[in-house]
Amino acid sequence: MVFLLYGLTIVAELTLAHAATSQCRSQPGGPGYPQQADWESDWDKLNAEVGGRLLAVTPSAKACVTLQCTEAQWLGGLYRETIPGAMNSYNWEQDYSVKPPAMCLQNGTTCSQGMVPVYAVNATTAAHIQAGVKFASAHNLRVAIKASGHDYLGRSTAKGSLLLWTQYLQNITFTDSFVVGGVDQGGAVTVGSGVGLKAIYAATKAEGKIFVGGTAATVAAGGGYTQGAGHSAFGPIYGLAADNVLEYQVVIASGELITANSRDLTAGGAVFWALRGGGAGSWGVIISATFRTFPAFPITLHQATVTTNSSVLTAAVMSAHAKHIFDWDGVRAGQYFYLANNADGTSSLALSTVFSNLTGADVEAQMAPLLADVTALGATVSGEGTITALPNDILGFADDSSGVNLILGSRLIPATAYLDPTKVGAAYKTLIDGGAQRVLGHMLGGGKVAENANISSAVLPKWRTAKTHVIVATNWDDDATAADVESAKQKLTNEYVPTLAKLTGESDSGSYSNEADAREPDWKTTFYGTNYPRLLTVKAAYDPNDLFIVTAGVGSDRWDALGICRV
Ligand SMILES: Cc1cc2nc3c(=O)[nH]c(=O)nc-3n(C[C@H](O)[C@H](O)[C@H](O)COP(=O)(O)OP(=O)(O)OC[C@H]3O[C@@H](n4cnc5c(N)ncnc54)[C@H](O)[C@@H]3O)c2cc1C
Ligand SMILES: *[C@@H]1O[C@H](CO)[C@@H](O)[C@H](O)[C@H]1NC(C)=O
Ligand SMILES: *[C@@H]1O[C@H](CO)[C@@H](O)[C@H](O)[C@H]1NC(C)=O
Ligand SMILES: *[C@@H]1O[C@H](CO)[C@@H](O)[C@H](O)[C@H]1NC(C)=O
Ligand SMILES: *[C@@H]1O[C@H](CO)[C@@H](O)[C@H](O)[C@H]1NC(C)=O
Ligand SMILES: *[C@@H]1O[C@H](CO)[C@@H](O)[C@H](O)[C@H]1NC(C)=O
Ligand SMILES: *[C@@H]1O[C@H](CO)[C@@H](O)[C@H](O)[C@H]1NC(C)=O
Repeated sequence: MVFLLYGLTIVAELTLAHAATSQCRSQPGGPGYPQQADWESDWDKLNAEVGGRLLAVTPSAKACVTLQCTEAQWLGGLYRETIPGAMNSYNWEQDYSVKPPAMCLQNGTTCSQGMVPVYAVNATTAAHIQAGVKFASAHNLRVAIKASGHDYLGRSTAKGSLLLWTQYLQNITFTDSFVVGGVDQGGAVTVGSGVGLKAIYAATKAEGKIFVGGTAATVAAGGGYTQGAGHSAFGPIYGLAADNVLEYQVVIASGELITANSRDLTAGGAVFWALRGGGAGSWGVIISATFRTFPAFPITLHQATVTTNSSVLTAAVMSAHAKHIFDWDGVRAGQYFYLANNADGTSSLALSTVFSNLTGADVEAQMAPLLADVTALGATVSGEGTITALPNDILGFADDSSGVNLILGSRLIPATAYLDPTKVGAAYKTLIDGGAQRVLGHMLGGGKVAENANISSAVLPKWRTAKTHVIVATNWDDDATAADVESAKQKLTNEYVPTLAKLTGESDSGSYSNEADAREPDWKTTFYGTNYPRLLTVKAAYDPNDLFIVTAGVGSDRWDALGICRV
């Protein structure tokens, strides 16, 4: 292992020395970029290699003029993911780094390419991706990788790039005994890296299985999800989604297709370690991922809404919630607690709690102490109800909302922070009084997530001591000025996130990199913690020329903000 890494590092240094003559990626119209005149010799050759699947990419607003998208399609994740240039949070298609910003807005009269890739390989096989990777290396191109375009940090789009579009890698294969290195790991499903959770949930249900996944329709389980960690309401029972990955097929920067698992250490052991939690988009292009499956059992979703009419009362409610947050540890429930704050001082806290093997009355008994306390405080509880069904029906969504301007900032809140419930309420009050619109809570840590602390993976260690992941969401309308957008971003980075960081009580607090602030100032610590040095070593061995660079990704500080020039 040591020898192998050492050998690869030597090769890496030689290649780097060779490439050092070019400090920047070739950009359209710039030196080294395959020119129009070269179309026949270069782009055309790539197009032939990928079976005519090379596409010119346009921003979603422009694509939607041609496609005559309906408003429902514009706002729907299932439709948007069929558009190669579309991001879900379409602010990431815009280039705010230039003055005035280079925009392409819905119903707009002008359209700039912004951060949208120039060409895309619409891959359906590993060979298509391999051809794209080799072409990008040979021509020193900026690369982007995209499955659904969900990325909250804009990491699946890049200015002037060649997009390796994995959306149509749609295979799903089940087995009752997946063997890794001669050891039978039991039931598993292998999914192409474009397959969304909705399709996976339908397939696992038909097989009588459970998939440890999130609450979404189009999030690609084998795309960015496990590279961040992958949280699920089943986390307390089965661990993070990344903990349940058995193997990846991945095309690395050399263009080789390798199998990465925990047993085959010579080929992909190190990259397997990094892919599980080490940050999306930094390691190679995943072709497929194999996940453990579990036999299905009935689960019950409990829902209720708690309404308050002042930030003082909301703070008291959140303190009560904190006081009760360990109530469900014994039954390993997972909970989404989403707070929406209105300008008139009213707030509503939507509680969605997922219980396994419990039904109606038992579930209501589990929730009763919290609901009684918040009622006694003067809050109104409404819409209480339960639904019992097979697991993934409850977690899956029919579609995801998208096509808006949205950014997030977050912290993993350790269990220890909840030992002082008043402090939790006070943090919420600070957020609300400061104007935070939505504070999304995920009680998906603890239980098996904590018990898996010693699994060999690059998952941020703070996940193992976290009780919740709490996110502040900020959005704006298309008519916001560039100055308004900038001040909203600064408020998130400089006020809301620090409030959450303070609540953790830690000086090295962590955040789930998939649901986070792209401007996180100390991102190496916040997203990767103590894993960062080892991640750099893996990066050097598998991607020596930094082909795969994303915002706040491993090694990204060697590049400018656009990932175009070395700094
Ligand atoms: C509606 C919604 C619900 C969500 N719910 C959950 C949840 O319940 N639990 C949870 O943990 N997270 C959740 N997330 C966050 C989600 O995990 C991340 O947005 C994730 O990065 C999405 O992955 P993707 O591949 O679908 O997105 P994309 O935007 O396509 O890609 C995300 C990142 O992964 C990289 N990437 C994509 N495909 C590949 C590939 N084949 N090989 C290598 N890199 C690739 C991209 O370059 C980018 O860096 C949710 C997001 C949304 C929008
Ligand atoms: C764009 O036009 C559609 C159709 O008229 C409308 O529904 C939508 O609200 C408009 N969006 C914006 C941002 O103007
Ligand atoms: C991409 O390829 C898929 C599968 O062949 C096809 O259905 C889809 O229309 C293609 N998308 C575009 C934009 O060409
Ligand atoms: C999808 O599955 C088919 C049938 O098993 C297989 O031939 C093909 O190689 C798979 N494609 C990918 C991209 O894995
Ligand atoms: C629910 O029951 C199934 C099947 O008996 C079991 O595998 C699972 O661990 C149980 N869940 C909990 C939270 O006890
Ligand atoms: C807030 O709710 C409480 C209890 O329901 C009520 O007594 C109080 O008048 C309300 N305050 C406002 C400002 O609406
Ligand atoms: C992980 O390993 C350490 C060191 O051996 C041990 O102290 C700790 O209890 C382990 N944690 C878990 C959750 O197993």
